[in-house]
Amino acid sequence: MIPQSFIQGLLARVDIVDVIERYLPLKKSGANYFARCPFHGEKSASFSVSPSKQFYHCFGCGAHGTAIGFLMAYSGLSFSEAVHELARDTGMQVPNDGRTPLPQNDNYERLIEITATAAKFYREALGQSPEATAYLQRRGLSGEIAARFGIGFAPDGSPLQRIFPDYQNKLLATAGMVIDSEQGRRYDRFRHRIMFPIHDRRGRIIAFGGRVLNSGEPKYLNSPETPLFEKGRELYGFFLAQKAIREAGFAIVVEGYMDVAALAQFGVENAVATLGTATTPHHIQTLLRQTDRIVFCFDGDAAGQRAAWRALENALETLRDDITLSFLFLPPEHDPDTFIREKGAAAMHEAAAHATPLARFLLDSLRQDCDTADAEGRARLVHEARPLIARIPAAASILRLQLLKAIAGMSHLTQAEVERAFGIAPAGERTRAAVHPAAHRIPVRKPPPTVASTLLRLVLQHPALAARLPLGLIPDDTAEGRALIAIVDLVELGEPATGLGALIERFRDTPHGDTLAQAGAGLIDTEFDPAVIETLFEDSLRKLSADAINKEYDELQARANTLSLAEQRRLAEVIQERRRLK
Ligand code: UTP
Ligand code: MN
Repeated sequence: MIPQSFIQGLLARVDIVDVIERYLPLKKSGANYFARCPFHGEKSASFSVSPSKQFYHCFGCGAHGTAIGFLMAYSGLSFSEAVHELARDTGMQVPNDGRTPLPQNDNYERLIEITATAAKFYREALGQSPEATAYLQRRGLSGEIAARFGIGFAPDGSPLQRIFPDYQNKLLATAGMVIDSEQGRRYDRFRHRIMFPIHDRRGRIIAFGGRVLNSGEPKYLNSPETPLFEKGRELYGFFLAQKAIREAGFAIVVEGYMDVAALAQFGVENAVATLGTATTPHHIQTLLRQTDRIVFCFDGDAAGQRAAWRALENALETLRDDITLSFLFLPPEHDPDTFIREKGAAAMHEAAAHATPLARFLLDSLRQDCDTADAEGRARLVHEARPLIARIPAAASILRLQLLKAIAGMSHLTQAEVERAFGIAPAGERTRAAVHPAAHRIPVRKPPPTVASTLLRLVLQHPALAARLPLGLIPDDTAEGRALIAIVDLVELGEPATGLGALIERFRDTPHGDTLAQAGAGLIDTEFDPAVIETLFEDSLRKLSADAINKEYDELQARANTLSLAEQRRLAEVIQERRRLK
């Protein structure tokens, strides 16, 4: 755990504008800075950064957070990694209470040094091996592409022994570069293999995939999971493809190292590969930060079909109505490598443009599985569809509605019947509101903000007010009220009142974090006029007292016949107080 006091101190020193400016060109307009949102595709600049609140917010897609949150969302860093990165920039030393190993402590840097040193050796060894160069030539890989991807060669024997003077160092095993035999002998993990370095999002080498030159098992040997490398999170080629993904407006996900390299060689640079694992929701999230369109490209064989279905299942929970996921099935005899070599980049683009959208792939597969000529087959279809539909989140409610309708049609049921079979409320009030988020926005009459919500926004704009809030009077029946109580609690415990960004980090991973971010988002373009803050605050305090008194009055009145003497006296006071407040 990184101590909260450190995080607060860090945020006090960091300026969110500097941090974000390193990644996005920001334009100042009024009190805030603006850019095109990196988290969803857009033409206008809805992404705003508030220096006074140390908070960013996109009016288009609702993305928001602090400097730490930005690094996490933009670069895919963990919370701890983001804190370490900011600390490094400001020259601060992150303290460690000894309970958690730091992900980016000295060891992390040393592990990166080890993989970098090994990669450099492998690259040089490739040039010196006629056998390896001949192999790559035979596979049609250009020298330019080999250099771009840093492809190398691990010779036979255990050459790293010569490269690392302290070959017995434990960290070489931690980095996954060597294997210790049961007899206590150490040898290189990668021997006689073409080496593909795997980069993290920032271009550092964190692992390798090694291919046998001809035949042999396994065909590809990958680094094990190490402190640097978690397979389900990394995508091969992502670092190199990022820019092309943004420019092309979509990403292609393939299965193999060679596929990524071959595609790039023929000008399709927006491709990445999963690393011998199924596509995970994490992979998809990473790509969705760069683009709103992903084309999964699978080999045309049965294994490709299975992999595609697994990708679909994992994608369901990441669906949103504003993204497009589709599936490209190559002819059975091809993988992307052979396809682009034979047909060229134009054919690849053409195929990607006509890839099967997720919903159609899902419905076609269900139809193929179940014979809808019979009642039994149709029942089975509904049965199989149910867990799939259940995984689609509210963010994709319109797509979900269309799938429901399609499933209803295929199973000769009404939509309401399918919904009942799925155990979801048939299209009553609740569902209608859920599937038509726009309906919410029709300004029939917006409910007036509660006192708690007004007070929360006041405190976020002007933190010093927190010290003047009467803890006992704040109602805890709304999220805003509970967040407000938590803030006042902090202040009463002697923590200094801080601004929005710092508070959001203070309450990260608690329900208050989201509430604060929501309230902060509302503040970004509609600040309170400083001239009215004091009046508004005092009005709200009066309203708080009045609400509390009224509540007490209702409670006492309800039991008017059974009140104790003390309660009767209290009721009299309450009645007077009410009169006074009016
Ligand atoms: P493929 O067997 O389809 O190989 O594995 P490929 O990519 O077409 O490679 P070439 O063209 O024969 O050289 C696809 C991916 O699955 C992982 C690798 O990431 C590979 O690129 N894989 C495959 C492994 O991790 N280990 C293996 O033994 C095989
Ligand atoms: Mn291949």
